[in-house]
Amino acid sequence: MPTIAFAGSNSTTSINKQLVTYAAHLYGEAIILDLNDYSIPTFSIDIEKKEGFSEDVKRFYQTIQAASIVFISFSEHNAYFTAVFKSYMDWCSRIEYQFFKDKKIFALSTSPGGYGGRNALEAGVKLVTKFGGIVLDEFALPKFNENFADGKIMNPTLDLALKEKIESFKNKIQ
Ligand SMILES: Cc1cc2nc3c(=O)[nH]c(=O)nc-3n(C[C@H](O)[C@H](O)[C@H](O)COP(=O)(O)O)c2cc1C
Repeated sequence: MPTIAFAGSNSTTSINKQLVTYAAHLYGEAIILDLNDYSIPTFSIDIEKKEGFSEDVKRFYQTIQAASIVFISFSEHNAYFTAVFKSYMDWCSRIEYQFFKDKKIFALSTSPGGYGGRNALEAGVKLVTKFGGIVLDEFALPKFNENFADGKIMNPTLDLALKEKIESFKNKIQ
């Protein structure tokens, strides 16, 4: 079963997509998803009643279903994960509530601030756990613009901290 990775963001320049791509490739081969590749409206019970689940909702849900390992980096908007991420989660939860059941998750976050999006990370971990996901490791990268460039973490201490967590994640998976 493949490893997938995505950021909870619809920014075409998402810093969380950059971080999650780096982290997932430290782990191994991974399919990097982008929420912009799905045309999914904000969850609405009216749309669900009228139109059911769109092909893109089913495609996103099935991609998660097909994975055994998921890397997610939670972008932070106002001390929480983003509205677009929540909406995608709401749609999938309507197909099957436990849609993350038994998937092993590495949870990340980053932001330009010193807290590195930790509020979004904590909220995101709580949500995916409700859906049955098993979060084995977490990593928040503070001050993205100072600490990340050219597709990798430039600060050696933070880079080592992530690499150690990736090794620990690998050991827990085996
Ligand atoms: C509406 C809005 C609210 C934000 N709130 C926070 C916040 O509470 N904490 C924080 O660290 N950064 C905050 N930011 C900055 C984001 O972390 C930053 O835009 C980051 O690039 C978002 O992640 P992304 O690039 O992966 O989408 C906010 C940005 C926006 C646009």
